[in-house]
Amino acid sequence: MYLSREEEAICRGEHGETLQRMMEILVALGDIYGAERLVPVRSVQIAGVSFKNIGDAGLEWISDLRGRVAVPSILNPAGMDLCRWKEMGISEDFACQQKKVVEAYGRLGVTVDCTCTPYQIYDRLAGPGDHLAWSESSAVSYANSVIGARTNREGGPSALAAALIGKTPLYGYHLDENRMPTHLVAVDADLKGSDFGALGFLVGGIVKDGVPIFRLRSLPDSDELKALGAAMAASGSVALYYVENVTPTPPAGARPSERLDLDRKEIDEVYEKYPGIGAEIVALGCPHCSRSELERIASLLEDKKVQKELWVCTARKIAEKYPDLVARIEKSGAKVLCDTCMVVSPASERYKKMMVNSGKALAYIPGLCGVEAGFGSTEECIDAALGRI
Ligand code: F3S
Repeated sequence: MYLSREEEAICRGEHGETLQRMMEILVALGDIYGAERLVPVRSVQIAGVSFKNIGDAGLEWISDLRGRVAVPSILNPAGMDLCRWKEMGISEDFACQQKKVVEAYGRLGVTVDCTCTPYQIYDRLAGPGDHLAWSESSAVSYANSVIGARTNREGGPSALAAALIGKTPLYGYHLDENRMPTHLVAVDADLKGSDFGALGFLVGGIVKDGVPIFRLRSLPDSDELKALGAAMAASGSVALYYVENVTPTPPAGARPSERLDLDRKEIDEVYEKYPGIGAEIVALGCPHCSRSELERIASLLEDKKVQKELWVCTARKIAEKYPDLVARIEKSGAKVLCDTCMVVSPASERYKKMMVNSGKALAYIPGLCGVEAGFGSTEECIDAALGRI
């Protein structure tokens, strides 16, 4: 990979040991994937935050680093609500280690908003055509597909390296040639809300790491696009998709070689295969809830009391911006949790079955938390929390 004089100097350690180590990570990645050079990034989103996932070794690795990030950088969800962890049943030991992880990132200049939806709280992190180094798979999918930016799905170390250097190797989804649609997915059904999570759950399992382009009867809004991309990134490893007449368009000359036809029956089968019955807990907000999703949940819970644990996960900035919505939701006995989610927190592991409205959570909870998952619409999830089903 071609390196500029300054990049070579960093490699030789002339700008300190941390930058040298970070450059080694980027160069190794670039060499593996045949990158021609490094490209400056506008922002970085860093996974590897939950102590559940990184453990003591990860904490030590981050704590050893010195310096400041070169570009705006933000964190993925942590293993707990950084303020209300006791209410989640998190142990003192875990909380202590988790706080050290977040503090270590903070010392490097990373903004300690722990969310998988940075695009819901900051406009300045990504725009069309921008090169990024984001980690969390649903955020990567949203950035590539809905915003029209360009990012690979970075691991924690490579994202942190990109943050400290301000660059990433130019390969994969940064290049037009890898942004061509591979599958046309035609859906003959009217879809809304969690149907898009079900659709993503199905399609991700089929296209794997392909680039689907959807032909839909009902055009999704931003929350539905978020749910669709998140589910495909979890049941498969889709990092980029298109929706005709909704998202930015593919590069010129794109012609998918495969075709997939789906209808209502196949979407309904996802709900039927994973019923919510018997769930002890209901968790919403995967990816983190937007204002309009909080609004919807608040309306469904108005003047009612939950009979089961109900978690609503969102970014702290969103919760702080809309305290009235948080209060309306929590009046029912539900908990609005910030900085974390049902998948990355060890708090989920004490339950046997969890009901979700997210195709991504449906794909991840059994394997990553050892918890059975049931799937339903937001309305069905609220009904379950209210003890109606
Ligand atoms: Fe976000 Fe956690 Fe889901 S990181 S996409 S809420 S698994």
